[in-house]
Amino acid sequence: MLKLSPNKLSYITRSFPNFMWVLKWYIMRASLKKVGKNFKFGYNSEFADHRLIEVGDNVFMGQHTLINTTVPVKIGNNVMFGPQVTIMGGDHNISYVGKPMRFVKTGGKNIPIIIEDDAWIGSNVTILKGVNIGESAVVGAGSVVTRSLPPYSVCIGNPCRPIKLRFSDAELGEHLKQVNSKYTQEQVLEFFNLATKK
Ligand SMILES: CC(C)(COP(=O)(O)OP(=O)(O)OC[C@H]1O[C@@H](n2cnc3c(N)ncnc32)[C@H](O)[C@@H]1OP(=O)(O)O)[C@@H](O)C(=O)NCCC(=O)NCCS
Repeated sequence: MLKLSPNKLSYITRSFPNFMWVLKWYIMRASLKKVGKNFKFGYNSEFADHRLIEVGDNVFMGQHTLINTTVPVKIGNNVMFGPQVTIMGGDHNISYVGKPMRFVKTGGKNIPIIIEDDAWIGSNVTILKGVNIGESAVVGAGSVVTRSLPPYSVCIGNPCRPIKLRFSDAELGEHLKQVNSKYTQEQVLEFFNLATKK
């Protein structure tokens, strides 16, 4: 029996249709603006414009990740992506009078995208321009992220909204201390309350 972890086996078998993928993988990885230690991404991922993308340490992105951006995309440390996550950073100008949008060169409201440390982005999530996904936030499978999401929250849906915090008050305090978070417990609660205020 081949002694391979499920990840390695899947990586090898998925590479079979495209033997050049491994070479492409290394070129893509080296072409990004900034890459931390231990960055892994899955088969058939695509990054454009690679010069705008920064990735921290220990980042994992699943198969078929698509980052297609005309704005800077900054991904922190220890971030996880499920398969088929799309980051669409940039809009066409939709309010230009007198020309088809196809021929308007000036962009729309193109604002950078930031994904903070330890966020987990579920499978098939789409992330749009200008959002900040807070530290350690969870984005549920299939969500469309159009607005910033507070740290330590669980967020779902289209449009994606926070529904709860990951921890009870006592757990949150302990966790923030242990991971040496940049947020205080008061800040986490305040951001969550602001984002969920009706
Ligand atoms: C977001 C997630 C982590 C929440 O898990 P959970 O804390 O156990 O939450 P629950 O399953 O109790 O769901 C809470 C509510 O949110 C809803 N919900 C959960 N995930 C949802 C999603 N992705 N989209 C829409 N609604 C969702 C549930 O239906 C439930 O609604 P209800 O209270 O009206 O019944 C999980 O549902 C999810 O989407 N995981 C992503 C899995 C994935 O993509 N893995 C990739 C491998 S890296």
